[in-house]
Formats: sequence, C-alpha cells, structure tokens
Amino acid sequence: MAEGSENVNMKEGVTGALMRDLERGNFTRETLTQALRCRDAEQAEMFALARRRRSEHFPGEEVEVRSVIEVSNICQQGCKYCNMGLKSKQEKYTIGYEGLLRLANFIYQKGRRVLLLQSGENNAADFVSHLAQCVHELKRQQPDLAVILCCGNLSKAQYRQLHEAGASRYVLKFETSNAALYGNLKPRDTLRRRLDCMETLLELGYAVGSGNMVGLPGQTHEDMVADLHLLGKYNLAMQSTTVFIPGESSAFRNEPMGDVDAALNMMALMRIMYPGRLIPTTSSLEKGRADGQYWGLMAGANTVTVHDGTPDEVKHLFPIYSTKRFTPQDGHFRQIVERAHLKFAPGVLK
Ligand code: 5AD
Repeated sequence: MAEGSENVNMKEGVTGALMRDLERGNFTRETLTQALRCRDAEQAEMFALARRRRSEHFPGEEVEVRSVIEVSNICQQGCKYCNMGLKSKQEKYTIGYEGLLRLANFIYQKGRRVLLLQSGENNAADFVSHLAQCVHELKRQQPDLAVILCCGNLSKAQYRQLHEAGASRYVLKFETSNAALYGNLKPRDTLRRRLDCMETLLELGYAVGSGNMVGLPGQTHEDMVADLHLLGKYNLAMQSTTVFIPGESSAFRNEPMGDVDAALNMMALMRIMYPGRLIPTTSSLEKGRADGQYWGLMAGANTVTVHDGTPDEVKHLFPIYSTKRFTPQDGHFRQIVERAHLKFAPGVLK
C-alpha cells in the first residue's frame, strides 16, 4: 500500500511540474517531449489549459467554418504519403471557371464566408491563371468571402498574381522540420524550398498557415518537438497537424497509422505555445478515431473544414490520404461544435 501511494504522489509531482512548465511558457525540448507523450489525467489537464488559452485569445468561443473545394488533382509532386502521387493511374480533373463559380456561390448562399481552394501542386502558367481568374471573379461577386489557397509551392510572381486576384490566406505545410525526412517523403522537393515559399507568402502579405504531420514513418518525438519550435519562427495566422494515415494507394500503404493521442497533444501544444492562431480539427483525426474531431476541439482547435463544396462526381478523385476518406458534412460539425460549447462562425479572420 505504502509503495503504491508513493508512486501516485510521485506521478502527481511529475504532472504538476509539466503543467507548471507549460503554464509558464517553459517550452524546452524535455518539457515538450514529455507533453507529447502524456495521456489520461495529465492529458486532460493539458487540454484544459489549451482551451483556457483559446478562450483568452478568442473570447467569442467561435469556430471558423471553412468550405473546401478540391479544384484539381493534377500534381507535380510525388509525396510518399499521398494517394494522388505521380504514378497514380487516377483520372485527372480540374474544375472549370463556370463550375467553380457555381459551387462557390452555392456555398456563399449557405452563409459560409471562408472558402478553401485546394489542389495538387501545379505551377503550370495556365492553371495558376485559371485559379487567379476564378478568385478575381469570386471576390468581385462576393467581396466579403475570404479565399484561402492550399496549392503548394509556386513562384513569387504566381503567389503575387493570386494575392492580387484577391486570395488573402495561404496554407503551406512544412510537414516535418527534419530535412532528411522531408527529402524522403517528398523526393522532388526540399525543406529549404518549402520554407522559402512560406517566407515569400509572408513577405507578400498573405495570412499564412503551416504545420506538420504526426506519426510519419521514420519520424521521432524529437522531430515533432522541433516542428513545434519551427512554428515559432514564423509570424503565422494558422497552424495545423494531421495524424498520418497510410493511404491505400500510396507508397506508405503498409506503414502503421500515426498515434491520434500524439496528434491531439501536438494540437494542444500548438494552442498553448502560439495561442492566437487558428487551428483546424482535421478529418484525419476522425479517420484515426471515432469522435476524433470532437477531441480536436477539446484539445484547442477552433476551425472546422466542411467538405461539401467538391462535386460528388469528382470527390473520389481527390483521395489525399484515403479512398475512404471521411468527408464530414454540416450536421456532424454543428453537433461537435455544440458539444464542445463553442459557436459556429462564418469567419474569424478577415
Ligand atoms: N495522412 C495524413 N495527412 C495527410 N496529408 C496528406 N496526406 C496525408 C496522409 N496520408 C495532409 C498533409 C497535406 C495536407 C493537404 O494533407 O499535411 O499538407
């Protein structure tokens, strides 16, 4: 008995020390490594701290709702974790001008004010011009619609073209801060090039989002801690993590899935370390665990991405990490947002 209670006290002592460090902003490698591994009561305490930080920085308790349109699956990269790699036999598509405007208007009529246009990485001049024309017309019709792009590495001139057309935000994830691992995951790219793109986006005045993946084959806890520190080097408006899902037709199809708890801990730490940024609760969490996206909100997220913009005919052609991808709809989000005692907001950032 005596031994047991001593163990409990010791454990509480350690928990107390971790929480004290997190509250005081003592984000050393040791603290963050321990925090990424925490579970149960300790994890619950960390999530509560993350929610407190969210309330302090977003007192409206609002969750930004983004509608995503997957514009094109043409991609020049060959990322090993992605189902849409270069060798994919999949039929290629690009949603045309009229079609895209129709979808965007449908979304606008639903009351949405944030649109995320996602595509494979394609720096062909005609594709980027197509995007720019769509964004320009969208913004002319609906000036209060915020347009976020997630279209990978492009040239400075192309980023400028899209910014001038009216896109105000851009999501470009660095995926991992470990340059060797990055080169292995994305053989056609380098971490340096990715970070240069991120810096260009910031320089051009975009509100920029970035982040990582958790549980990648070959990734260590140290790498993830370095990811957290790298996020602090940039003046980001948004940050995100996904849990690695082995896509059925990707090079990593036989690798194990990432740890959902580690991904949730990563989100809580992002909120605690950089509290004023938007953090999405991603659909990979739901794929990884039933109710995963609700837990993302409980770990400090304040954005949901609704996949009701991509037409059904092409949805199956954009299987980033799974052909059986969970593409959540409205009702699911209203329910989890309510359960997390938050409010659905058309857009938090302007
Ligand atoms: N598992 C989890 N997340 C993934 N992403 C791409 N493939 C996977 C996968 N297999 C994430 C990446 C990318 C974003 C669009 O989706 O972080 O930047």
